[in-house]
Amino acid sequence: MSVKKQIRIALRNCGVINPERIEEYISRDGYFALGKVLSEMTPEEAVKVIKDSGIRGRGGAGFPTGLKWELASKNKADQKYVVCNADEGDPGAFMDRSILEGDPHSVLEAMALCAYCMGATQGFIYIRAEYPLAIERLKIAIEQAGELGLLGKNIFGSGFDFDIGLKYGAGAFVCGEETALIHSMEGERGEPTLKPPFPAESGYLGKPTNVNNVETYANIPVIFLKGASWFNGIGTETSKGTKVFALAGKVNNVGLVEVPMGTTLREVIFEIGGGIKDGKKFKAVQTGGPSGGCLTEKHLDTPIDYENLVANGSMMGSGGMIIMDEDDCMVSVAKFFLDFSVEESCGKCSPCRIGNKRLHELLKRICEGKGELPDLDRLKNLSEVIKDTSLCGLGQSSPNPVLSTLDNFHHEYLSHVVDKKCTSGVCTDLLEYFIVEENCIGCTACARACPVGAISGERKEPHLINPDTCIKCGACMEKCKFDAVILK
Ligand SMILES: Cc1cc2nc3c(=O)[nH]c(=O)nc-3n(C[C@H](O)[C@H](O)[C@H](O)COP(=O)(O)O)c2cc1C
Ligand code: SF4
Ligand code: SF4
Repeated sequence: MSVKKQIRIALRNCGVINPERIEEYISRDGYFALGKVLSEMTPEEAVKVIKDSGIRGRGGAGFPTGLKWELASKNKADQKYVVCNADEGDPGAFMDRSILEGDPHSVLEAMALCAYCMGATQGFIYIRAEYPLAIERLKIAIEQAGELGLLGKNIFGSGFDFDIGLKYGAGAFVCGEETALIHSMEGERGEPTLKPPFPAESGYLGKPTNVNNVETYANIPVIFLKGASWFNGIGTETSKGTKVFALAGKVNNVGLVEVPMGTTLREVIFEIGGGIKDGKKFKAVQTGGPSGGCLTEKHLDTPIDYENLVANGSMMGSGGMIIMDEDDCMVSVAKFFLDFSVEESCGKCSPCRIGNKRLHELLKRICEGKGELPDLDRLKNLSEVIKDTSLCGLGQSSPNPVLSTLDNFHHEYLSHVVDKKCTSGVCTDLLEYFIVEENCIGCTACARACPVGAISGERKEPHLINPDTCIKCGACMEKCKFDAVILK
């Protein structure tokens, strides 16, 4: 993985320090920001630093973090809470896990800073139980910080008290949505509720609660140490700082990259990611996880920021980036992501529960060669209804893979429904097994392997497949040593 063009802010300590030794975090200026803020700044001054930095939430929605902290600080209550969202449910995403495993103290320190700003005394990290190493490291970090008086009572002799506990999630994607997360923390069903009220007004146990993502928190201590203008000097007009992406799919270098906002997709995929595997042709990049969209060649030079991705039919999401090549069928890709949303819908509202199921059925029909032209309009109309009427972000964004592939790869949909062809050779129902006469020596291996007797032909004569009898099991192709059986 090329380090060219990468800047490590959120990942600054990952792989550099031993995360189980607080001394190593401290040796890299760890807890210095907390000391500085508690001894030199009022909560209002500290909130202003975060507002001026321009940092926006890294968990998906991109809400300005300083504004969120300000709202939570202004709401009066006897008790307030700071929550870290470590649910990380996007398939293929492991940015937050890496931060928690590699640098847990940066998140603890940031939560303490947030608590001071808003007047909270208790924090919780909501983390999926499938992250045992991250949980272990957090437990060690919390204990070590407590022993040194960096968490607990009267931190740095300032009179400020703050403790952090862990809450475990069972791995439902929807529990990453902040209202569902709070219900899950309370022991209720992990289902979202309408906003307002926002958690900053009424969150955990009905008290003002600030929810931020792991990566958002990991940036905070450095902002206090280096200053708001240092941070807002990195990035684009509307999106400041860096973003961590999990590069996956058909790219040579997979893994985590942290780049300044404004880096182009081409730079990430071709310079840092080393280009497409096996010299194949780039086809699409899916950003934003299951609810993002598929961008194409024409978007490669677009600088990555919150607004640009949305304007092009996708989104930043939490930072998943899946690269696809010429062998990927974009209708199947849309079906794959829809499958995830259908599985993960909590079922509370009907547009998402029923609408996504119907969308998935339409896509399945198209992939099986049973689609018809009006299905493309049905897909579009239903997608828009689901987006407009679903209760939470899951339903509101789940049709994005359908809409973006309909927009950018319309020709692939047309070839599925009109020509009944999958040009990438992925939808097996649309493919036909065929024996190339010139290559066939009449060894009969294919005919003997065929479970339904679909192959006819005399020994030493070219054989023939009857497409009406063939069940497309592929056994003939596997058996033929002369590459005579092909798919077309
Ligand atoms: C279906 C769904 C899943 C989400 N999953 C996560 C998640 O795993 N982690 C996360 O930080 N935010 C997730 N979010 C976004 C949260 O609701 C919330 O906006 C975020 O935690 C706020 O933190 P931030 O401002 O630092 O981004 C999800 C949202 C939706 C709609
Ligand atoms: S949009 Fe989907 S996940 Fe969200 S509340 Fe409705 S059914 Fe549940
Ligand atoms: S794909 Fe299977 S069913 Fe079809 S001809 Fe080959 S062996 Fe027979």
